[in-house]
Amino acid sequence: MPDPYVESLRRGFKSRDIPGSCSIVIFGATGDLTHRKLVPALYNLFLNGELPDSFKIIGFARRDKNDQIWRSELEESNRNNSRSGHDEEKWNEFSKSLFYFRGDLNSEESFSDLKKCIMVHETKGPTFHNRLFYLSTAPDFFPVVLENLKKAQLNLSPKKGWSRVIIEKPFGSNLGTAQNLNRIVNDTFHESDTYRIDHYLGKETAQNIMVLRFANSIFEPLWRSRFIDHVQITCAEHLGMEGGRGAYYDKAGAARDMVQNHLLQLLSLIAMEPPTDLSANSVRDEKVKVLRTIRGMGPEEVRKNVIRAQYTEGTLGGKTVPSYRDEARVDPKSMTESYVAMRLFIDNWRWEGTPFYIRMGKRLPTKATEISLHLKSPPNVLFQKLPGSTESNVLTIRIQPDEGMSVRMLSKKPGTTFKIEPVEMNFDYWSSFKKGSPEAYERLLIDAMIGDATLFARRDEVENAWLFIDSIQDSWHKSNTAIPMSYYESGTWGPIEADNLLAELGHEWRPL
Ligand code: BG6
Repeated sequence: MPDPYVESLRRGFKSRDIPGSCSIVIFGATGDLTHRKLVPALYNLFLNGELPDSFKIIGFARRDKNDQIWRSELEESNRNNSRSGHDEEKWNEFSKSLFYFRGDLNSEESFSDLKKCIMVHETKGPTFHNRLFYLSTAPDFFPVVLENLKKAQLNLSPKKGWSRVIIEKPFGSNLGTAQNLNRIVNDTFHESDTYRIDHYLGKETAQNIMVLRFANSIFEPLWRSRFIDHVQITCAEHLGMEGGRGAYYDKAGAARDMVQNHLLQLLSLIAMEPPTDLSANSVRDEKVKVLRTIRGMGPEEVRKNVIRAQYTEGTLGGKTVPSYRDEARVDPKSMTESYVAMRLFIDNWRWEGTPFYIRMGKRLPTKATEISLHLKSPPNVLFQKLPGSTESNVLTIRIQPDEGMSVRMLSKKPGTTFKIEPVEMNFDYWSSFKKGSPEAYERLLIDAMIGDATLFARRDEVENAWLFIDSIQDSWHKSNTAIPMSYYESGTWGPIEADNLLAELGHEWRPL
């Protein structure tokens, strides 16, 4: 049996492969994620010839359906959600590999029947024993699915096959629940066969952060507190609590829903040291070091450095939208934040003293995720009397929607007088590569099939991220009155307190 750790090191040096034949079992086959993201992603991989010659997608759910009904429901949603459109003929070819399995997540018997079903598929066509289990159910079911997979011995693949698990977010709701889930996961699957999804890591520009930093000599020498004044990470959404999300969200809030995972992952990629190689473990070793060095906060630091807020009624896209507390399935007295902004520090050699500002909010004027690194100004001895000369250089990485990067610098404005103006050097994916980027789920699904966990969160990453978020949550809950809730009108850029947070150190949020 090859050592999984050595295997993963070896994989880090390999170029991309087409994965071997496999069965993909989706738990939560009738859910929104399966319809909007997973099946369209698999269909697009199929269109691009990236799926193995033989693959079976088995949808596990409780409702009474058959292959035909499930296929036609998926076809309908694929039409609306496939990135590169829907081709009738290709879909018919692809959908021959979709199978519906009616089962009960709580029933051991369902899992032994599932095993038989998988084995029947495995013997049709080229024989293979590779199995990928995708947990896309409500998180309360994760433990029971894992336990039942283990009881049916589906966590062990016979012969030379593999058995892997992908786990959707949220991975726990605090450190304790995440540790519990990790214990169950690691009791069932080896860590190297465990793929904790954070779909932001599958976004093209997020993957490009390492290339930008470590393949270009122009940026890396500047990438430290000596030259960088501060860093901003913004994730803005115009969505509120559509589709009945209020029930989940009101228990989670912005810090748990998006900061613990997506934003801290982006922060780790920005702040990490160069890994020793590109293997999953080397990259994740460096990311986890960042998470471990984020300065912890007690109630007093939380009060000074973290702003929480809720949206009030306002206008967005020409429509009036309700306040957070008036949303369906949200407690009218809720103290859950739909917006969070914070200033944090990374106590390591590279980043000593550099503020990192993070903000995330629902019902903001636009949907965009962006990282900006604001460089320190040069000695201001030559141009200080000229207008415009105080602007600093800014490197911006646009994660979405308009993927790309830009550098802001100062230039002399053409003319007979000496005026300085900021200009932008811009790179966008579309004009350079003339093609759209794959959806995050395409990349992540194929990686899990190949066995490359680089873009998935490791156990210690998830737990360290929770440790930090828990310190904020604890302060909020213990000092509910001492740490106030701020408010912002829907369709605006968040509460004034978030602007003041930056103004304290002479900074401003970069307009998106
Ligand atoms: C999810 C959060 O993880 O990410 C949602 O639960 C959020 O609240 C979503 O809307 C944003 O993802 P994306 O890819 O649309 O930016």
